[in-house]
Amino acid sequence: MVKIAVLSGGGDAPGINAVIRAVVRKAIQDYGYETVGVKDGWRGLIDGEFVPLDLKATSGMLPRGGSILGTSRTNPFKRKDGPRKILKNAQENMIDAIIVIGGDDTLAVAYRLFELGLPCVAVPKTIDNDLAGTDYTFGFQTAVSIACEALDKLHTTAEAHHRVMILEVMGRYTGWIALWAGLAGGADVILIPERPFNIQEVCDHLRRRQSRGSNFSLIVAAEGAKPKGGKEITYSRGVDEFGHARLGGVGYHLAKEIEALCKDIEARVVVLGHLQRGGSPIAFDRVLATQYGVGAVDLVKKGTFGHMIALHGNRFVSVPLKDVVGKRKTVDLKLYEIAKVFFG
Ligand code: F6P
Repeated sequence: MVKIAVLSGGGDAPGINAVIRAVVRKAIQDYGYETVGVKDGWRGLIDGEFVPLDLKATSGMLPRGGSILGTSRTNPFKRKDGPRKILKNAQENMIDAIIVIGGDDTLAVAYRLFELGLPCVAVPKTIDNDLAGTDYTFGFQTAVSIACEALDKLHTTAEAHHRVMILEVMGRYTGWIALWAGLAGGADVILIPERPFNIQEVCDHLRRRQSRGSNFSLIVAAEGAKPKGGKEITYSRGVDEFGHARLGGVGYHLAKEIEALCKDIEARVVVLGHLQRGGSPIAFDRVLATQYGVGAVDLVKKGTFGHMIALHGNRFVSVPLKDVVGKRKTVDLKLYEIAKVFFG
């Protein structure tokens, strides 16, 4: 009997459990396959930690956030004998295919292991939506909804206090969440890594709004937004196993600079952080995650290994992992131009 293992790596995203559920349902019901889960991403495959996954184990999981399998940012290529242990564990446990749910880091590992002989099929996951090869990763729209709801709330308090409210959102090196949430929440300024900012220009804009009678403003800043010629703001020393520093702090940096340049303006900051990743996926992400899970099992059935299930327009297609990994998808700058129309 064909045995499929499922693994989720990297930061969690709302909808991982919906993918796992879809994989298990499709694999067992339609093809009579066996399914197992791998604990905590690549870490579990290095250590050979599997959990049985059947219809009962995955029932009721559609709305559940997080990952029932756990996740980690383990990079097997940074661990002693990592790749060799993974290949050995897969073989000894008679795994015929591994469905890897991940963003760029996790899928880059999947691609390298595929080249070494591991039969991987990938599912695109990240709230950042920065993965190449697909229009949308699951989890992104849920993060946008949460950020938009936060903006709606900040709007009323900003207006009441005549303040500048700054919402710092996730997204690492791209501004997808900031741009979509900013557009949906009517932000007056959206700062994204793809368009480094000039603080004087930001202040001039706030002043212009004041002169037109708007004595409050909403700014959305992606955590990776940086000043022209400057660097992203980080709050940790060192980097993770994939070389990423922890980003964060741009909101407070902006508030300080704005208050220094515009003495009469009061600024406050909200860092949304992991609230964007926790909790239930919205309906769109449940449906997308389900389609990705079912599509991934079909790729296994066809033997299309080394590929990722992807959304192109309204069609699901398979994309070779070599065309996905290491190619960051930055925001559509045409959409940024549209957002600017509403900066006021
Ligand atoms: O990649 C997803 C993401 O949420 C980024 O937006 C963010 O920079 C990072 O993960 C945070 O990682 P951690 O959960 O390790 O703090």
